[in-house]
Amino acid sequence: DICKMDSSLIAAIDQGTSSTRILIFSAATGKVVTFHQIELKSHYPHEGWVEQDPCEILSTVKECMEKVTEKLKNINIDPKNIKAVGITNQRETTVTWDKQTGAPLHNAIVWLDARTKSTVDNFKAKVQESELEEIRKLCGLPLSTYFSAVKIRWLLDNIDAVKNAVEQDRLMVGTVDTWLIYNLTGGTNGGIYVTDVTNASRTMLMNIKTTCWDETLCKFFDIPIKVLPTIKSSSEIYAHITDGAFQGIPLSGCLGDQQAALVGQSCFEKGQAKNTYGTGCFLLYNTGEESITSHHGLLTTVGYKFGPKSPTVYALEGSVAVAGDAVKWLRDGLGLIEKSSDIEALASSVPNSGGAYFVPAFSGLYAPYWQTDARGIIIGLTQFTNKAHIARATLEAVSFQTRELLDAMNQDSGIPLTSLKVDGGMTANSLLMQIQADLLGIPVVRPSMTETTALGAAVAAGAAEGIALWDIKTKKESSGVSIFQPKLDESGKNFTSLKMIIRVFFVFYCTHDLV
Ligand code: G3P
Repeated sequence: DICKMDSSLIAAIDQGTSSTRILIFSAATGKVVTFHQIELKSHYPHEGWVEQDPCEILSTVKECMEKVTEKLKNINIDPKNIKAVGITNQRETTVTWDKQTGAPLHNAIVWLDARTKSTVDNFKAKVQESELEEIRKLCGLPLSTYFSAVKIRWLLDNIDAVKNAVEQDRLMVGTVDTWLIYNLTGGTNGGIYVTDVTNASRTMLMNIKTTCWDETLCKFFDIPIKVLPTIKSSSEIYAHITDGAFQGIPLSGCLGDQQAALVGQSCFEKGQAKNTYGTGCFLLYNTGEESITSHHGLLTTVGYKFGPKSPTVYALEGSVAVAGDAVKWLRDGLGLIEKSSDIEALASSVPNSGGAYFVPAFSGLYAPYWQTDARGIIIGLTQFTNKAHIARATLEAVSFQTRELLDAMNQDSGIPLTSLKVDGGMTANSLLMQIQADLLGIPVVRPSMTETTALGAAVAAGAAEGIALWDIKTKKESSGVSIFQPKLDESGKNFTSLKMIIRVFFVFYCTHDLV
């Protein structure tokens, strides 16, 4: 029914670390019809701690629902045309709430939070290296402050309300998708308690092969398996929304944000990869129906599963904790820029970083180091250094980190990538994209539509409703794609290799307490 297709819309709720957004896509064209975005506050109660208010996360989603509905009406589009809603979310961030009241038991512990360092150290001290390796094989992830299991353990050990709730069988715990789906489908009044397989694959509690909660893993972290939500596929009708402006619309897609970007970038074939530059930076490489164990510090994760009976598609992931967050720090922590986008002009005002290096290891270093206790450094400063050099060193830091991910990915796969698909807010920065291409030595491909995360969630939601949102599988790259070719000549390449060596040396410094 062409007419029906023409007017059908799909909504994507994109609940990220820095902001909540809702984008409305046209099912016929895959184009964004309208959107609304609200910045989300993070709280830093102690050094290394990062929290968010679960009620604020939920209220920003509801407000975005209202605002996009109004915006649709303002352009004479009937909001009733929204046929399905998909959710994509910041992953690993952990929320606990009370089954009887629905109220949060603590602030959400954000994925970046490093408070669980001692929890991680205690586990490491208790077991042999071989047992840790077994755990990694079971869940695909190394023991790190990053993932949800240690955050849940910390909450059970330190927060009385959480301890009491588990004893009284009142504990509900989940990632942000679970918290949102529960509340949007009725909360204490019949809300469903589910997560999707991509989000579950970030907890360290799911068996990466069976995609079920794993008894050995739950026992290792001493987390009762019965408190965990049901694991669903990424594309099926979970329930209908009961509350707010989207009331009555089926909720039928859910993916962690990095996996959603993989889908949104059409990386459906084994060997295809994308890199998303958001708060952090995440390179995912589709490995097909095989879950591959990395030998170079990458994670094994679920890429997507489009329907309960569909195969699970896996990915290797390189995760960098701090990318856009370093720019935010220049803005909010140092006051060097007024708006995040100002960094491009500032960094462009100098030809290089003047010998300055920045390793923004604010939350330790993730892939490929997995060094919890690393901290950030800026080094190589002279009287000549000014804020433009620091801005440029920040962009270089993001690119250096991506280069490390790509090197690890190439070594694991044995087939070097010949170009890199990119997306995310920071990719609007063309200087960053050029620095990235120069540092990687391969073309960097930026799509015309960089809202790939939301698009991925919309594709999943549409698929469950029988709406093929845009023929994404066969989509030809439309006009507006920008390809950044590496431009360095031999001397530039030698200089870059030297910089890479110097940078690795500084990373070694900040991971070994030498500074
Ligand atoms: O694993 C954390 C990731 O999901 C956060 O994504 O877009 O908020 O940086 P983002």
